[in-house]
Amino acid sequence: MKKLVSNNVHWVGKIDWELRTFHGEEYSTHRGSSYNSYVVQEEKTVLIDTVWMPFAKEFVDNLESEGLLAKLDYIVANHGEVDHSGALPELMRRRPDLPIYCTANAVKSIKGQYHGDWDFHVVKTGDKLPVGNGKDLVFIEAPMLHWPDSMFSYLTGDAILFSNDAFGQHYASEYLFNDLVDQDELWEECVKYYANILTPFSALVKAKIEQVVGLGLPVNMIATSHGIIWRKDPLQIVNKYMEWAQDYQEDRITILYDSMWGATRRLAEEIGKGIVEASPATDVRLHNVARSDKNDAITDVFKSRAIAVGSPTVNKGILSATAGILEEIKGLHFKNKKAAAFGAYGWSGEGNKVICATLKDAGFELVDEGFKALWLPEEDILAQARAYGASLAKA
Ligand code: FEO
Repeated sequence: MKKLVSNNVHWVGKIDWELRTFHGEEYSTHRGSSYNSYVVQEEKTVLIDTVWMPFAKEFVDNLESEGLLAKLDYIVANHGEVDHSGALPELMRRRPDLPIYCTANAVKSIKGQYHGDWDFHVVKTGDKLPVGNGKDLVFIEAPMLHWPDSMFSYLTGDAILFSNDAFGQHYASEYLFNDLVDQDELWEECVKYYANILTPFSALVKAKIEQVVGLGLPVNMIATSHGIIWRKDPLQIVNKYMEWAQDYQEDRITILYDSMWGATRRLAEEIGKGIVEASPATDVRLHNVARSDKNDAITDVFKSRAIAVGSPTVNKGILSATAGILEEIKGLHFKNKKAAAFGAYGWSGEGNKVICATLKDAGFELVDEGFKALWLPEEDILAQARAYGASLAKA
């Protein structure tokens, strides 16, 4: 069922309350998500983005029952990823005449996925699509935010920025606007989304925001492709993105570890205590990465000024959960954060060396070669672990 956004703009997307993982199993969606699609009805009727493929038929049936399917003049595809383009095959089957406005890279990604020989119209930054009644859709390419094909579309007159993934959240809600939802939940999902998806592109985020702000366009709303629409003080999320894009950190230290028989866990706990003893204001977070939600752990890393990563040595390496989170951290290109390694061992003890090498490769500043403990640590070693935590807090 369509929902009114503003004047002649309606939301026609899908709220996915059941979704618990996104990007395969890579991103946890504790609060579901939505695939936001919009219809602009001026003299011309324009569909902006669609929904994820499993909901394609439901989506196009809804357009038909709302009397919109036959009225559509254009499709704008801001991004080719399947959660927004997934209904195109069904839509084009039923309206093969519709032109699709998108970037040159979106032609590649859409053709690459659906192999449809559709009527693509390539647009660049500054190109306009007149929609009638004196209004235009103005296109702004946004490469790598977060795909090469991404773009924003801006509706003049109503001053709505259709930002696609940027400024979104995986957050299912029947309430369409930011001022109608629980603010703590909303911001939790916003920062998780930024930390886990946009961190590697922070330099581009900052440059793109400066470019768009430099255009001096009024912005009444930011209509994202996931979660709520920013209606109340829409620039608050833009300002937050600027903050997050500039090597963001809080006074937080996150300890990520895995443990076989508890020795490395004991080190993690004592390092945590040592941090708080030395720096009571520091917010310490521990994650057993084999058990914690990895995206929540990554969000804590994003907010941290330093991290400690631990694993016992096993087969001259480290446990797979620690290796897995390190791989994810490496890909996210965090900047301006310190790091330390720790772990228990019984025989050869190469774990810290493996962790340090990956952390260095991931761009962290190592405080030293790490803290290790032979077999199960007793009180003297636990005291050293606390002192190690204290030194990390002061590093
Ligand atoms: Fe929401 Fe990049 O797709």
